[in-house]
Amino acid sequence: MVMSVAVAAQERAPKGQASAIADTSLDARVDSILRGMTLEEKVGQLVQYSAGQPTGPGTGRTDYEDMIVHGQIGSLFNVVDPHEINKYQRIAMEKSRLHIPILFGLDVIHGFKTEFPIPLGLASTWDPSIVEKASHVAAMEAAADGIRWTFSPMVDIARDARWGRMAEGAGEDPFLGSAMAAAYVRGYQGTRLDAPDSIASCAKHYVGYGAAEGGRDYNSTEISEHTLRQYYLPPFHAAVEAGTVSLMSAFNSLNGVPSTANPFTLKQVLRKEWGFRGLVVSDWNAVGELIPHGVAADGATAARKAFLAGVDMDMVSSLYHDHLGQVVKSGQATQSELDEAVRHLLRVKLALGLFEHPFVDEGAAAKALYRPESTALAQTAAEKSFVLLQNRSGAGGKALLPLASRAQNFAVIGPLGDDSSYPGGVPEGAGPRVSLPAALAQRVGEDHVSRFKGVGILDGTDEEIAAAVAGAQKADLVILTLGESPDMSGEAASRAHLGLPGRQQELLEAIVKTGKPVVLILFSGRPLTVPWAFEHVPTVIEAWLPGIAAGPALTRTLFGDVNPSGKLVVSWPRSVGQEPLYYNALNTGRPTGDMDLTHPPSDISARYLSRYIDEQNIPQFPFGYGGSYTSYSYGATKISMQRLSAATLNKDLHAGTALTAEADVTNTGSRSGEEVVQLYIELQGTSVAEPVRALKGFQTVAIAPGETRKVKFELKPEAFAIWNDRNQFAAETAKVNVWISPDSAHGSPAQAEILP
Ligand code: BGC
Repeated sequence: MVMSVAVAAQERAPKGQASAIADTSLDARVDSILRGMTLEEKVGQLVQYSAGQPTGPGTGRTDYEDMIVHGQIGSLFNVVDPHEINKYQRIAMEKSRLHIPILFGLDVIHGFKTEFPIPLGLASTWDPSIVEKASHVAAMEAAADGIRWTFSPMVDIARDARWGRMAEGAGEDPFLGSAMAAAYVRGYQGTRLDAPDSIASCAKHYVGYGAAEGGRDYNSTEISEHTLRQYYLPPFHAAVEAGTVSLMSAFNSLNGVPSTANPFTLKQVLRKEWGFRGLVVSDWNAVGELIPHGVAADGATAARKAFLAGVDMDMVSSLYHDHLGQVVKSGQATQSELDEAVRHLLRVKLALGLFEHPFVDEGAAAKALYRPESTALAQTAAEKSFVLLQNRSGAGGKALLPLASRAQNFAVIGPLGDDSSYPGGVPEGAGPRVSLPAALAQRVGEDHVSRFKGVGILDGTDEEIAAAVAGAQKADLVILTLGESPDMSGEAASRAHLGLPGRQQELLEAIVKTGKPVVLILFSGRPLTVPWAFEHVPTVIEAWLPGIAAGPALTRTLFGDVNPSGKLVVSWPRSVGQEPLYYNALNTGRPTGDMDLTHPPSDISARYLSRYIDEQNIPQFPFGYGGSYTSYSYGATKISMQRLSAATLNKDLHAGTALTAEADVTNTGSRSGEEVVQLYIELQGTSVAEPVRALKGFQTVAIAPGETRKVKFELKPEAFAIWNDRNQFAAETAKVNVWISPDSAHGSPAQAEILP
């Protein structure tokens, strides 16, 4: 059975869905509201605050109630109590002159209360339908609480594991990232934005934020227009095509111009080229940050620059509140520019049905949370997100996983796997959580599970390590849970070292030294450089931060109730010096190919290549890689034709099938499994150098033991188009390689040619 297909842009939403703000029938109402508004009230709509948190260089007022009465606030966020939400809304609806409802927002990132795996984990499922369902549950819960706008999805391409926000996105690839971006938008916004279980999505951070130099959060980015268009913009475009009604402008400067004051990205690309009619909100105080960025000497200039560049709403800096009226009065921005910005917001409020239903049913809110079907989905999502990094045969000639059901004594050792494996955002202890040791105990009996912390995430004592070693010695099998705490990834969590933090490496080595069989489970918001572990521990699972169902999902995986099928959406580095590391890189003039690089280089021919003298070029595990309890073999990639024509492709890049590719995939093991089959292409001889491989399709196929499935991909013309040397999207003459393969590093390609 083919579980999900994603070829070219087929993940895009049906037009009807994208119509929440495309619907021009709202425009008459928008204009009629606008006609009744004063200049101050218009500016007020463009002002957003976070509950109780004044910040930024502006006045940073917190007397919201008074401000709402006077029409000076358009949106509030971080208000999560439905009673509070109604309190503010009542003021807007009953005491303000125009009765325009407040739009309440929140960072609902991977679930509202029912917590799903972090987005990097969700993406590792390679299953957009899971992402769509998970974000729909998040929307349903948030909307029931009165929150109608999430600052999600984060669709930033992340090529550098030092950058902590890699955890919040879908990894390094624009094709997969686009499929996931669209899936989030569909899930949050549903088929109707005014449905009681729909919320507005906000694709962020526009744009290039993930390319922060050195992986240091908020740092500058330098991205050529070609690279921007080919890699960083597509997931945003996919979100817009799927109908997202808002976007967030990023913190970073892009080629010297901050993203929050960048008319090229905000006006030229977003509005003119993509026809976006929704709302652009700044990131947190990003308007105020134009001053330290160095492009504005004062608050008035910052407000003017952000506004003229195309930022509609000011998140928390208060600078629009303080200065935008004067900017318009003095003629530096026109009335019609102000009207247009207000239109963008009013459209969203109208499309959400906020004017008709401004209040939340306070009694109903709790009923939407933690529904059994929601936690079941969180468990499925977690199970599909785990990546089996290795499961080599151990001492007995047999791989350790899946575990045999017979009674064994387990020692669960390590600082993770209890509550700390749940990322923040949900109050401690809330919801039906079951930790890994608890789930394991339910499975094999309390008497068979012992628990030792060993060390903390960042600290630990010799005594604790000794106690864990003693515990391991008494057990038949050790489950070692190591990695990062949730606050070591996400915003402001860049790392210069990607190994195990604190004394965890010492704990790892001490436990391995006992000679007991060890299953290592890594919890983290990014790949970790643990070469020693990969050498000495045959069985390693990357669990990411799995959310509310971590315990049962991991237990079922360990015992083989589910067969791991997650695959990496980021290249896994061997050492931090390889970063930024991504599979879809250019070949360079001096490639190393598959060469096994010896250190130091053996001779001159092995030296003057694009390489390190002390490290491999290839990653520890490539993009797209993930193991299974069964094994698969791939037959040759066959393509429907060897010759394509650039002219024919360019006639309509988005319609029809340009090429069909297929391969046989056989389950050569003894268990059923789901395999994420990937399709890559390479173009050679183009006007701009193209990557050694580029993902253009993926499918999850369920295959029974011994069964062979023919896996077929239909590639649209756009799969062969590139952003060329004139920054136009078009197909060119080229030699083409096409791989259907289990990951980005294996297989042998079928060859074709694009003729004029
Ligand atoms: C983050 C955004 C987030 C916003 C509001 C910022 O610091 O960069 O991703 O949506 O805060 O909480």
